[in-house]
Amino acid sequence: MCGIIGFTGTSQAADILINGLQSLEYRGYDSAGIALVQDDQTKVIKTTGKVAELRDKVAATEGTHGTCGIGHTRWATHGGVTTVNAHPHQTPKVTLIHNGIIENYKEVAADLAKKGYTPVSETDTEIAALLIDSLYEGDPFDALKKADDILEGAYGFCVMFKDRPGTIYCMRNASPLVATHTEDGSYIGSDVVALIPYSKDYFVVPEHHIVVLEKDAITLYTMDEKEVEPKMLHVDWDTTAAQKGGYDYFMQKEIYDQPEAVANTIMPRIHNGKVDFSADHISDDLFKDINRVIITACGTAMHAGLVGRSIIESLIRIPVTVEIASEFRYMNPIMDEHTLVIVITQSGETADSLAALRLANERGAKTMSIVNVKGSSIARESDYVLYTHAGPEIAVASTKAFTVQCCGMYLITMKLAEINGILNDEEIASYLDKFVEATKTIGPVLEMDEYIKTIAYKIKDTYSAFYLGRGLDYAVACEGSLKLKEISYVNSEAYNAGELKHGTISLVTEGVPIIAVATQDHIFSKTVANVEEVKARGAHVIFITDEDVSGYDGLYDDLIQVPKTDDFFAGFGVTVAMQLLAYHTTVYRGYNVDQPRNLAKSVTVE
Ligand code: F6R
Repeated sequence: MCGIIGFTGTSQAADILINGLQSLEYRGYDSAGIALVQDDQTKVIKTTGKVAELRDKVAATEGTHGTCGIGHTRWATHGGVTTVNAHPHQTPKVTLIHNGIIENYKEVAADLAKKGYTPVSETDTEIAALLIDSLYEGDPFDALKKADDILEGAYGFCVMFKDRPGTIYCMRNASPLVATHTEDGSYIGSDVVALIPYSKDYFVVPEHHIVVLEKDAITLYTMDEKEVEPKMLHVDWDTTAAQKGGYDYFMQKEIYDQPEAVANTIMPRIHNGKVDFSADHISDDLFKDINRVIITACGTAMHAGLVGRSIIESLIRIPVTVEIASEFRYMNPIMDEHTLVIVITQSGETADSLAALRLANERGAKTMSIVNVKGSSIARESDYVLYTHAGPEIAVASTKAFTVQCCGMYLITMKLAEINGILNDEEIASYLDKFVEATKTIGPVLEMDEYIKTIAYKIKDTYSAFYLGRGLDYAVACEGSLKLKEISYVNSEAYNAGELKHGTISLVTEGVPIIAVATQDHIFSKTVANVEEVKARGAHVIFITDEDVSGYDGLYDDLIQVPKTDDFFAGFGVTVAMQLLAYHTTVYRGYNVDQPRNLAKSVTVE
């Protein structure tokens, strides 16, 4: 949610900033802008629209030199999508970019108005800029510390003071900021993908600290100006991991990344027929004395939680609830030291998921997270973290992050089974073999790409669609439906197959696509019966199954036959088939697959 980049060094900043914004564009693409320090002035260039438009505008602007600057790509919160609302915001003393939301900006604006400060934009960010301007009397630390005390909400700021050319001051609360220094200068960004072209070593700026970027050094301070050593992290991703690599869209590439992402996530953790979390430093004690599991997450990650619920309850026989993170903290949830709270998140920065984790920590639950981004807030604040190894996910619609999150849930379930004596060693080894086999069905489903594309062509003009499934099939159907709706704008919903006839079936008319998932032997005939009901009402049935369907000819219009797996692990092939269906439908409908309207990748506001 908003991309931030800053650089000061020996190279020209404009290209570094724009290339950085390009890699961060998935965080927001309503408007973009840069500010360049030039002799005695700071030049701001900004525009509505995407980074490509900013690039053109910069190319057409005279005098874009400067070796120090900041850049921003915006996901609008306060104030419409206009150039004046675009960042950077400038006041007489400061130029500033911001990621997050200032919750008390109205009160702050009212105080500033009394002192004669009038904003020109409608944004909370400009109020923060004016506040820092009003507090600045020559000491950046003093001004930033005072602003940090006054401001409420989430913020990652990069600030350039007019009288300190060449230096960038940054601080944050909740919103992410990562930084690095190389021979060429100092860099800051809201996500490590913006830094990878320059360095794979970086640090996360701790909350309520100030980091000072200078040409020759980067220094981290407490708010009281005491220097502290940053905790360096290393990222294994290379620049190609964050590029399209010959694919038309990032989403397409990321769908194809899945066999590798899954293997990277599970194979290092399976040793001698057991799940081994020793390299993750996850203690076995975490899985003992648990009488309840709560999984909390948002969106796609929440759907991985639904998969988790289905498998943990059926095998481990302890109650599992899946809570939408934005609701969780407002419902006074019941937790104690026997509750295991699992937070699932790709970015590790989703504001609602972070707040849910903090509540669970406060209430004494055991906490663990399944996270893709190393060193992110949720990873740092959980008792234990299980990193997924999907590499950077750039497309706004999550694909490979979901499959590896499901893998995380399977690994945890197997560990619970071992520690709680649900399965013996031999059984665990056999389950793990079937797990690995099931993940290998992703490859053959990818080979069905052209065939799935022909099905997408048939449904491309539909207004609505429904996804059906029972049990585990329902969990993955929810994800299939979200994929289709968020990128293609088809009005799509997922239903428990038996629930449709309690109201929603009235929406099923001639030709409406019904994507039915049926992989579970024990309920196959039940789902088939529900599919018969919609077929009888003229639906266009796309049946996705790993079962033998000979004898069911009249049941469906299109069949996606995925390779057979053990029922317990049956979601992988189905998920990939549904991702491809959503992808091709969107391409046929002519929309930008990677950047669906109104969305942003990392939702760091409530
Ligand atoms: C949908 C999608 C979102 C995210 C959700 C949580 O394709 O990507 O629904 O899953 O915003 O994000 P993370 O996993 O970063 O917490």
